[in-house]
Amino acid sequence: MIKKWWHDKIAYQIYPKSFCDLDGDGIGDIKGIISKLDYLKSLGIDIVWLSPVYKSPFVDQGYDISDYYSIAEEFGTMEEFDTLLAEMKKRDMHLIMDLVVNHCSDQHEWFKKAVADPYGEYAQRFYFRKGVNGREPSNYRAYFGGNVWTKVPGQDDLYYLHFFTREQPDLNWENPVVREKIYKMVNWWLDKGLSGFRIDAIINIKKNTDFPVMEPDDDDGLIYCEKTLENVDGIGDFLQELKHETFDRHNAFTVGEVFAMPPDQLREFVGPEGHFSTMFDFAPHSTMSGDKGWYDGKEFNFDVWRDTLYESQLKMLNVGFLANIIENHDQARGVCRYLPGYALNDMGKKMLAAVMMTLRGIPFIYQGQEIGMENCPFDSVDEFDDVYTLDQYNAALEAGFTETQALKICNRRSRDNARTPMQWSDSDNAGFSTGTPWLKVNPNYKTINVAAQEKDKNSVLNFYRRIVALRKNDLYRETFTYGGFVPLFKEKEGILAFCRSCGETCCKIVTVANFGKNEAVLTMPYKIKKVLISNSTKTNHTTDSITLSSCECAVLLCE
Ligand code: GLC
Repeated sequence: MIKKWWHDKIAYQIYPKSFCDLDGDGIGDIKGIISKLDYLKSLGIDIVWLSPVYKSPFVDQGYDISDYYSIAEEFGTMEEFDTLLAEMKKRDMHLIMDLVVNHCSDQHEWFKKAVADPYGEYAQRFYFRKGVNGREPSNYRAYFGGNVWTKVPGQDDLYYLHFFTREQPDLNWENPVVREKIYKMVNWWLDKGLSGFRIDAIINIKKNTDFPVMEPDDDDGLIYCEKTLENVDGIGDFLQELKHETFDRHNAFTVGEVFAMPPDQLREFVGPEGHFSTMFDFAPHSTMSGDKGWYDGKEFNFDVWRDTLYESQLKMLNVGFLANIIENHDQARGVCRYLPGYALNDMGKKMLAAVMMTLRGIPFIYQGQEIGMENCPFDSVDEFDDVYTLDQYNAALEAGFTETQALKICNRRSRDNARTPMQWSDSDNAGFSTGTPWLKVNPNYKTINVAAQEKDKNSVLNFYRRIVALRKNDLYRETFTYGGFVPLFKEKEGILAFCRSCGETCCKIVTVANFGKNEAVLTMPYKIKKVLISNSTKTNHTTDSITLSSCECAVLLCE
């Protein structure tokens, strides 16, 4: 395998609106991020992924971009952004940004010009189509609900396409002018010193542009738009061109947000010559997806989750690397998803950390994960801000749930759970802002916060620091990065365990974690040489076996 600069790196996602607010307007800002770089460095972070900071009306929290070349006023100025880049370089850290190019904002200059002249050149940069029999051109349901077609303002029978909200018109990738302008913009940012991109919603750029009416999948007469992408060939041509024209020229690191990839195209997407350096592994998280969104999501099932995780790891062995997450800005908090009630404590959180940080692939820590932030109790639907949450709340009501039940569902699954302000201290607003935060602060900030955990050597934060340091330790780095993956104790209830090793040239490291309620005794297939890290004060083991109490984990150096 040809080694790449990003193979052994640890990444951290910043959701800028909620990270750190220095100017007191209740919204995080770039200056705030700069003020926390030393904190990130102390955690061992190499790559920071910044969710969108471009100019935007914030209908979808910045994933609706109105100018790809400017920084949103709410976050600061381009000068401050340049300072951020420089400060990161000083610390030997890399910055990657979100690349949102399936769609832009309806406030983008191109869309405004398209609306002003719906049969002109700019309309060709979007998908404008005539209605059929006085109705929308086709029957696709948008990701956040409703029809993907909305009438072009001022037109009777002309519609534009948007797979997400109506304020996010889809860009027409078939138009070479659009592609050329996108590549120019990407190169502009890379020339500035960016190390790469996280690439948003990218599977959507290739569509069947005939937009045929399809068999509905629900009573609303619509079909989920993602399903209309199945059997559409040719996305690879776009992605290779994008890569060739931009990323390749800068040795950039790219991580794709790819749902619904044709399963036989793994190598094309993330193999040695793949479209992306890596892509997120959403398979474990998708085991809880519902048929109609997340309001009808499935309960967590440990066995299904574990098997899916193993499968993801194994399928990548001779292909490349996935990016591992337990949460991001689009999901509820990982500790609340994957840990049963009895494990939702520091022990359990460290166990989840140990598993995630020793898998094969690039670890991405989401802000607040390192202190074990949890879902937030929202007392009313009015406390949510997210468009998707409101859609799912209404979908739940339509499906017959009561308001109380629908609120409860949102409390468990809404992505606003992950978007509440970062908990820096126990002072007002968790030390996030001196103003009024744009979204509710989780009331548990009094106990779960960075300042308190800095002081406690056994905190979740310090456990993350130790496990990140272990992964980067020169003695073990090779194994954690390039080592294979062999699942262990598959038949043992509640046990998640695996061996990482790369043959003769490097050591053998085994992670064992007991997600079960009862103590477990594991007879080891390899001799234990040393406990590298564990979440208990005293790990009970001999050279041949280890006894794990409920929620106990250990990372072992073996012979
Ligand atoms: C991605 C983003 C999500 C956003 C959507 C539309 O899935 O992660 O936050 O709402 O794309 O851009």
